[in-house]
Amino acid sequence: MNVLILADVVARPGRKVVLERIQDLREQYRIDVALMNAENVAGGFSITPSIADELFAAGIDLMTSGNHIFAKGEIVPYLKRNPRLLRPANYPPATPGSGLFVGEIRGFKTAVLNLLGRVFMPPVDDPFRVARECVKSIPDEVKIRLVDMHCEATSEKYAMGWFLDGKVSAVYGSHTHVQTADERILDGGTAYITDVGMTGSYAGVIGMNKEQVIERFIKIPARRAEHASGNVGRLAEEIAATYKFKQPVFVAEVDLQTLLQIKQQDVLYRPLPVFPAIVHDVSLLVKRNLTFAKIRQTIVEQNFELCRKVEFVDVYEGKGVSDDKRSITIRLEYRSNERTLIDEEIDAVHNQILKALESNLGVRRRV
Ligand SMILES: [Fe+2]
Repeated sequence: MNVLILADVVARPGRKVVLERIQDLREQYRIDVALMNAENVAGGFSITPSIADELFAAGIDLMTSGNHIFAKGEIVPYLKRNPRLLRPANYPPATPGSGLFVGEIRGFKTAVLNLLGRVFMPPVDDPFRVARECVKSIPDEVKIRLVDMHCEATSEKYAMGWFLDGKVSAVYGSHTHVQTADERILDGGTAYITDVGMTGSYAGVIGMNKEQVIERFIKIPARRAEHASGNVGRLAEEIAATYKFKQPVFVAEVDLQTLLQIKQQDVLYRPLPVFPAIVHDVSLLVKRNLTFAKIRQTIVEQNFELCRKVEFVDVYEGKGVSDDKRSITIRLEYRSNERTLIDEEIDAVHNQILKALESNLGVRRRV
């Protein structure tokens, strides 16, 4: 008997070639049972009911899937009613659909098991434990037993091959979209290949637009993920219905540690100034090694009541200034929170500042 396994069929290019060629392939290679992995078939993610109908009508007998199968909510009712579209068997027990098919395909008693790996993949139940239970449940008279191990790591796929060796007809890997060259018959008689590859466009990166994939590697998404603190949303009605929830259900996933850090921060505020500020620029003759930072520090440390800001304006060296000195112009901003200041008040503070600079740093006003 001949089994055709089409690797991950990706988006329209993959779909188109399957629809156009499946009958020719069936005839050419005298195919008895034709399987394909459908998890990327609708725009690269999951599958829709109409696409599934189209592929079954064209000559596909059964479809396995993987981690993207629930990316399109509309497929959930279809999964529940169509045993020939599988989702991975090691999703939690309440997940809609089935991961194991046991029945007749074109007159052949056949079992197909779909598993999802756990290395570099979203968290799921142990595929080895689930595989053991599922294989145990297959009646002895079902001799054609095919296992799609959908996962990233070659070691995990190979381990599954040996784990089921002698218990199933074939263990084949999917998901990486790159076919491996390690096909073999294992010691117990099970056919094995780490990945069956992809049916899709080879002009891109594993079937997807190459420019967009490169952008994802080198641009914003990685940075945005660093600051994610959670998600919130309403559970899709289809999924809520499978749990028999009567009310709308909202689901939130939050990073508690990030939220607690935000909560612990004291909120500080200062009212916006009501009264106008008065600004005085002053040029100072300073030694060449004296910095504006030091001047500013000297003023700020003395905490002059009405002085709100000290800013750098300009530096000058040259004619009119001796070689061992330079002129630094600073801007002093004066303001009161209670009243509009009068000249006498400002002059008094301004002179105190100049005196402090002279006594502490030897700085004189340039006139
Ligand atoms: Fe996948």
